[in-house]
Amino acid sequence: MDRKPKTLIGSARIKRKIKDLARQISRDYKGKKLVLVGILKGAFVFMADLAREITIPVEVDFIQVASYGASRTSSGVIKIKKDIDLPVVGKHVLLVEDIIDYGYTMKYLLKFLKVKKPKSIRVCALLDKPARREVEVPIAYKGFDVPDSFVVGYGLDFAEKMRNLPDISTLR
Ligand code: IMP
Ligand code: MG
Repeated sequence: MDRKPKTLIGSARIKRKIKDLARQISRDYKGKKLVLVGILKGAFVFMADLAREITIPVEVDFIQVASYGASRTSSGVIKIKKDIDLPVVGKHVLLVEDIIDYGYTMKYLLKFLKVKKPKSIRVCALLDKPARREVEVPIAYKGFDVPDSFVVGYGLDFAEKMRNLPDISTLR
């Protein structure tokens, strides 16, 4: 396996975008109880940087899903591997995700978390790969659109590797 990452979005650009997103989020949720819910594992880097740029008080939690047969097809089964710990009744939930691809993961999580009766629930995704979308997902805060190719780095993995790369790259 000899696939070299080719930089698509450099770390400086990511940093600028996150400042921008955090400014919007801080403004929109001012005076509201906000819980950031990061989706493990891919969102851990984005979550850490985004949370530190947000200037209003926030609570932080994580959720993890397991996709069997893959979330890669409409028949794919998604299950909760780790639920959130914080109560979200009457609070505003912002789901923080690395990338929206087919859309099944986010569709499932929105439905799953709605049952916990948050006051609102919205999506913040660093990357959007619209070419392969199969179910519609509303993205309130979006970083970048990416082309239909596999991307790694900044939390995103290829077989669990390359999550630690500071840039977002495509594999060629
Ligand atoms: P989907 O929207 O249900 O297809 O699932 C999105 C999930 O698939 C993300 O949370 C990522 O973990 C993973 N994923 C999708 N595209 C990529 C990619 O290009 N690189 C790495 N992970 C990806
Ligand atoms: Mg993920």
